[in-house]
Amino acid sequence: MSKVLYPGSFDPLHNGHLEIIETAVFLFDEVVVAAMRNPQKGEPFFELSEREAMLNESLAHLPSVSVTMFDGLVVDLARAEHCDFIVKGLRAVSDFEGEMQMAQMNHAVSGVHTVFLPSASAHSFLASRFIRDIARMGGDVSKMVPPPVAKRIQERYGR
Ligand code: PNS
Repeated sequence: MSKVLYPGSFDPLHNGHLEIIETAVFLFDEVVVAAMRNPQKGEPFFELSEREAMLNESLAHLPSVSVTMFDGLVVDLARAEHCDFIVKGLRAVSDFEGEMQMAQMNHAVSGVHTVFLPSASAHSFLASRFIRDIARMGGDVSKMVPPPVAKRIQERYGR
């Protein structure tokens, strides 16, 4: 049985994340999706518990996926959840440098390898930070995020 951990801020979850999760479901027996705090980022847009709720609602159609939230090191969660790998999506070359460094660091401290999955070109421009900006300024992001996320943004910003 292969089990992978897909960690991220998911603030908010968007369709590019969803694509990576669906690909991971195809490749691995079990997928743990973890909403994590990114210490590099400031105030969250959605609280961790809200992000976890949106992940649960958006991934309910995928029985091999479990959702959790964690405020700590990704490698500690990988160990606690008995995950064989960490999985990350790559949208463009610009993602590679930071993700490669994190993968090497995570491997150095724990021995856990990271598997990279390329995102489809249809999703390669999606980024949570742009979705937050557009949502805050009243733009329509409903085609870029799963319905449970669109609903919460609509409730908060009326769009
Ligand atoms: O969606 P993001 O913001 O790119 O996700 C980044 C995240 C949450 C996976 C990263 O910040 C992380 O791993 N945070 C947990 C703390 C940790 O393990 N830091 C060491 C990284 S080498």
